[in-house]
Formats: sequence, C-alpha cells, structure tokens
Amino acid sequence: MSKKNFVTKPFLPPLDEYIKYLEKIWSSKQLTNDGPFHQKFEKELANYLGVKYVSLFNNATTGLLVAIKALELKGEVITTPYSFIATSHSIMWNGLTPVFVDIDSQAGNLNPEKVEEAINDNTGGIIAVHNYGIPGDVDGLRNVAEKYNLPLIYDAAPAMGVKYKGNSIFEFGDLAIVSFHATKIFTTFEGGAIISHSKEIKAKIDSLKNFGIDGPELVSGLGTNGKMNEAEAALGLLQLKYLDKNISKRKDIYEFYINSLESINNIKILNLPKFLKYNYAYFPVFFNEGIVIRDKIYNKLQENNFFCRKYWYPLITNHSIYRSLVGYDLPNARKLSQSVLCLPIYPDLDIEDVKTVIEIIRQLLKNR
Ligand SMILES: Cc1ncc(COP(=O)(O)O)c(C=O)c1O
Repeated sequence: MSKKNFVTKPFLPPLDEYIKYLEKIWSSKQLTNDGPFHQKFEKELANYLGVKYVSLFNNATTGLLVAIKALELKGEVITTPYSFIATSHSIMWNGLTPVFVDIDSQAGNLNPEKVEEAINDNTGGIIAVHNYGIPGDVDGLRNVAEKYNLPLIYDAAPAMGVKYKGNSIFEFGDLAIVSFHATKIFTTFEGGAIISHSKEIKAKIDSLKNFGIDGPELVSGLGTNGKMNEAEAALGLLQLKYLDKNISKRKDIYEFYINSLESINNIKILNLPKFLKYNYAYFPVFFNEGIVIRDKIYNKLQENNFFCRKYWYPLITNHSIYRSLVGYDLPNARKLSQSVLCLPIYPDLDIEDVKTVIEIIRQLLKNR
C-alpha cells in the first residue's frame, strides 16, 4: 500500500539538536514555571516577530480563553462562523454569547460592514480570525472597533511568521493569539502565544495563565493553568532556526500549485493581498460548482491516499450547540464552506505527489 499523504506534516528539527536541549532540562530539573528555556524562547520569538510583548501558552485555545478574560469582554462577542471551533468555544467558555456575521468571499475573513450592522448596546467585543493566515480587511475592522470603542482580538492561530504591510500580522488587534499545534507550520507539539502591546496587559496575561498568582502568598485573579513547559519552549527555540527555510520550501509548493491549477476551469484560487508576506500554511481551492463536485474530488483523492481537509466545513453555526444562536444570514460563509478543499502542503512534500493531486482534480472536473 502506498504512503498516506495528509494535508500537512509537522516539521521537526534534527533529534540530536533537540537532545542537547533536553539534557539541560534533565540536569537543571526545571520543567516548567517560567524556566530558562521559556524565558529565552519568549524573548527570541519576540525578536523574530519584531513585536514587543509575547506570552507563551500551552496551546492557543487557553490563550484565547485568557485573552477574553484579560480584556474583560462582556455580553455579545461578534465573530466568524468560518473557523476552527476553538474560536467560538472560547467565547462560550467565558459565559459570553457569540454573534456570527458573514465573511468576505476571498480568504473568508470577517466583513467589517457586517460586523458594524451587528453592533448593539450588548456588544462587548470582536473576535476575528486571520483565516488561513491571510489578513482580511484589517483596517476596516480596526475602524469599526475604534468607532464603537470595542476590544478587537485576533485568533491568529495559523499566522505564524506572516507579515502584512511590513509588520508582523500579530500587531493587528488589541491581542493576537497564535498556535504552535502539531498541524501548524511551526510546532512545539502543543503550544501557543499571545502577542500584546503593553507591559501592563502582558503582566495581566502572565498572571492569568498562572492561576492568577501574583506572589508567594497572593492570588489576585481568576486564572487558569496556561503555562508552556520547558520541553516545549526548548523545541520552539530550536524550531525558530528552521522557520524561514520551511516557509520558503512551502512557497515553492504553493507556486507550483498556482501555476498548475490556473489553467483549470471552475475552480477559484485565492489572490494573496498586496503587501503580504505569507507563510504558505494552506493551499485552499474552491470548486465553483459546490459541494457535490467538491466531495467527489475529496473522496477520489482519499482513495488515492491524499487526505485533504475541508477547512471549514461544516460551519461552526451548523454544529448542534451553536444552531440556536444563528441570527444573521451567512451566504458567503455557506458558499465557501461548501466549495473549499485544502490540498496537502508541507516543506518536504514530494512534487510528484503534488502533480498526482492536480491530475486527479483535472480529470474529475473534465469527466464529470
Ligand atoms: C483558527 C484556529 N483557532 C484556534 C485553534 C486552536 O489552537 P490550539 O490547538 O493551539 O489550541 C486552531 C488550531 O488548532 C485554529 O486553527
């Protein structure tokens, strides 16, 4: 049986390099709680990104939960139906109500006009996503947030390394949360970080991720355990050395897909925004004729050992626990959700496999 190709495959650095780091942990016996690797990774990550304040986390979901607490969001939170379930779960876990509005028809990011229409006296904030790691109308969203004096949080889970208009994409919003999960372009097995813009808010976040403990005999907030451990921080430190090279290998594959798929009718490929330095985390294609052909291609690829993903199908609002909350019409979200397929992309993906994927798509679209 031939090998299975998944939508992504984690990059891991050479094991002997990591073992040297682990030996240090074994001899120091400091396993967690702001140890030396944690401190170093936090600093080097901030330098790499060109941002001031980074707080490491055990995963992005805890980061999202803490971000909402840190900014003290209340009431209704406007968000997207076209994302991973953690985006809206983090709102519900904080006892708040997600209000889902429609997205743009490009990378599937929140539409600022729809956000503005949904604002009322109960609105307590906005949680947007840089979907696929690609920014939407970030200026439009900032204007709406500022006009109504609402906190704006970005779930920037897939956006590690992305730059927009010359700066880290994590500079947008009051807080941005990135994921280092195994499926992401940069992984610490599990992990994540919040990027903030002031010493005070970083201190609040750091306290909240450590049970709200502010001194040996002082608990001053309702915190949780969101700490990244030393083994994960050490891996992160090592991974930073390889990130640029990995992004450049991803770019080659991304461009190969673009050049090969451009000549095929009835599919839409994203135009990346101007001034974007992308991380090539995903290669989504959208089948103009919708769900039937999309699913046929998905199944055929699977029969051939290519396990693509329908990011994001179903929409969050189609899951049973969210169905009762649906208020606004979501035509763009529905359309993208029913037509999208994310194709395999990772640094050492064999170009022959990419060609096979493209050929399967070409044949099925021709012979349907
Ligand atoms: C958009 C989005 N938000 C949140 C998460 C959650 O991240 P984590 O797995 O690090 O908790 C993910 C991915 O896992 C994601 O893709």
